[in-house]
Amino acid sequence: MLKIGDIEMKNQVVLAPMAGVCNPAFRLIAKDFGAGLVCAEMVSDKAILNKNERSLSMLYVDEREKPLSLQIFGGEKETLVEAAKFVDKHTNADIIDINMGCPVPKITKCDAGAKWLLDPNKIYEMVAATVEAVDKPVTVKMRIGWDADHIFAVENARAVERAGGSAVAVHGRTRVQMYEGKADWSIIKEVKQAVNIPVIGNGDVTTPQEARRMLDEIGVDGVMIGRAALGNPWMLYQTVQYLETGKLLEPPAPREKIDVCMTHLDRLIDLKGEHVAVREMRKHAAWYLKGMSGNGRIRDKINSFETREDVATTLYTYVEELEENVAKEVSAV
Ligand SMILES: Cc1cc2nc3c(=O)[nH]c(=O)nc-3n(C[C@H](O)[C@H](O)[C@H](O)COP(=O)(O)O)c2cc1C
Repeated sequence: MLKIGDIEMKNQVVLAPMAGVCNPAFRLIAKDFGAGLVCAEMVSDKAILNKNERSLSMLYVDEREKPLSLQIFGGEKETLVEAAKFVDKHTNADIIDINMGCPVPKITKCDAGAKWLLDPNKIYEMVAATVEAVDKPVTVKMRIGWDADHIFAVENARAVERAGGSAVAVHGRTRVQMYEGKADWSIIKEVKQAVNIPVIGNGDVTTPQEARRMLDEIGVDGVMIGRAALGNPWMLYQTVQYLETGKLLEPPAPREKIDVCMTHLDRLIDLKGEHVAVREMRKHAAWYLKGMSGNGRIRDKINSFETREDVATTLYTYVEELEENVAKEVSAV
């Protein structure tokens, strides 16, 4: 079982933190679909300290989402620790996670995110100071290294452990790989063998069987799923079920997909209001429709959604057409 500090997850399936995606609307969907732990999108330490309204709203946690991990990023000890203290005292998150993997230049230029991967001493110092300052367990999410010549995953994970970190999640890519190439699970295995704190494996888990393989072959304590869950929270449910019973569930029917897509939108509207939510939903709607036949013909409509009504009318009309086509095919047999 996956246990971080005193917090016990009901299973080993973890929703990855994803900026622009993992707000309470999607996290609640992931919870509905059985994820043992959900991670929030990263929030800047400085924005928290400057009381930036948008960033503070990103710290909101619905009771139903728990256990939940809130992720912060930063490059300087003082601001990181102060932001962690704020999250510790003013949010009901269960875990404080530090981002050590974001590859984007805007972040690494400020010595934050993946930049830390080059310096295990800095990791020790930053994590130790954070752990010292807060009551909630502190974890780190890292990539395996900066580039192929600087893969310090084992040293870095050991630094997290020595500093009192409660777990480490490892994405099997370097910073320069961004999202290209394949995640190298063998390095995740080296990390797992080198530390005693829980290790969560991440990178390219796209099927329940791959989740099983990561747990069995790499020996990790939890498996973190990111892109495969976009528009497809069923992937989380199927994985939870497969890990428990060995049975693979059928994929959802188109109408079920659209129903969940609309629930997602309604939760986003509650959170951000219709104007912002509908625009944000365009990318999610495209993800929910992925793999559904003839979805190309409504792509333009998705990109111009303005209201909830637009979304509902377009998606349900599309599903009705799909269902009619299936009915015609059946009656033709
Ligand atoms: C849209 C998007 C946003 C992301 N945002 C974050 C983030 O805020 N914090 C973080 O640690 N990782 C972030 N990641 C990385 C993911 O958590 C994960 O490590 C990566 O996608 C690899 O896992 P996967 O192959 O299961 O997608 C993001 C990834 C994506 C695709």
